[in-house]
Amino acid sequence: MSDPDSAPPFDVAEADRLLTTTRAVRRRLDTSRDVPDQVLFECIDVAEQAPTGGNVASRRWLVVRRPDLKQRLGELYAESGAFMQTIAERLDGTDHPQAEVFASSAHLVEHFAEAPALVIAGIWGRHDDSGRPGLFDSVLQSAWSFNLALRARGLGSVWTTMLNAREAELTEILGVPPGVTTVVTFPVGYTIGTDFRPVTRRPANEITYFEHWGNTRARPTPAGTATVASGPGVVVEVDIDARTKAVWPLVSDPTTPAGFENELEAAEWTSSAPHGVGSTFVGTNRIGDRVWDITNHVTEHIEGRVFEWGTVDPDDPGAVWRFELEEVGPRSRLRFSVVIGERNNLTAPMALENPADEAKVLAGRRKMMRAAMQATAEGIKAAAEGAN
Ligand SMILES: Cc1cc2nc3c(=O)[nH]c(=O)nc-3n(C[C@H](O)[C@H](O)[C@H](O)COP(=O)(O)O)c2cc1C
Repeated sequence: MSDPDSAPPFDVAEADRLLTTTRAVRRRLDTSRDVPDQVLFECIDVAEQAPTGGNVASRRWLVVRRPDLKQRLGELYAESGAFMQTIAERLDGTDHPQAEVFASSAHLVEHFAEAPALVIAGIWGRHDDSGRPGLFDSVLQSAWSFNLALRARGLGSVWTTMLNAREAELTEILGVPPGVTTVVTFPVGYTIGTDFRPVTRRPANEITYFEHWGNTRARPTPAGTATVASGPGVVVEVDIDARTKAVWPLVSDPTTPAGFENELEAAEWTSSAPHGVGSTFVGTNRIGDRVWDITNHVTEHIEGRVFEWGTVDPDDPGAVWRFELEEVGPRSRLRFSVVIGERNNLTAPMALENPADEAKVLAGRRKMMRAAMQATAEGIKAAAEGAN
């Protein structure tokens, strides 16, 4: 018999379906079907349950339906969003990961004014850049609840901020008083069909850190403290003012870290070019007087994006090291990560020797790794930016 106290208070699968399928809807907004005030009131009442700083009710919602007003906002949106159309045209027909988003965004630029209602979420207060949480920070959680409430009722929208760049005109057209900040504009409509799917995002175990920034766990640990079995890891990230294609040659060259950190002294390919999955290289490591060689096996190699290798045994690696490059506009984000294996390394047996010290040994090893990885990432950044 199930324990009634442990039963979740909601249908979790259904709640998660709502949370994971509320998408940016642009091309599937039904422009032919009106959105009644009643539905908007309901959704705003739901949204107003979101937390607000100081429990002060300062949020305001502005609904625009009049065609001439929507037209003027649509023109402003198109002026701010012209770049989306340029990028969409450039990416059209390519396999660029953002091609679809820009095509859809460009569609919205042309059809913004056709949404049955434009709903603006605003707040009394100005963002003062003080760094303190303020009234302004009370809008976002509520605005997202508004989207969820729409989705639950068969409507949809997309979070748009481009009109924020035209705040002076927007406030003039709609009579928004000084002292109010308009934060987001939602083109709202019923959706054409209601089936939307979750998208691929980075999994929690790669972006959740425990006890220290950058300390990861590949698997949850029942103990709640770091264990060898949880696949402890380290992540270091830097933003680089250079294109990914300029950074890639450094990232995909196993000798690069040796130039910037102290533990890896040298590295050399032991298989012939071209290098890819299955290629091998030997790294010479040093800690104090101790010097040893490790054979490394390339386990993922995606030109311009991923260079990953496992140490010692590709099927049961002592550690998995990984460089990833991501485009952030014209810049790059470099992510350098490691996950410590359960065998085939020096750390695991040392940590397992005395269970009381397991977390401490792992923390110490990760501190050393983090320092070496940070030095490597900073070195790559300096080299790539210097080559600009
Ligand atoms: C802060 C923020 C600003 C955004 N601004 C715009 C915008 O001005 N125009 C637009 O078409 N989409 C905008 N979006 C929507 C994103 O492009 C969209 O969420 C993203 O493509 C991911 O799609 P998904 O929400 O379906 O996962 C914005 C999203 C956020 C969070």
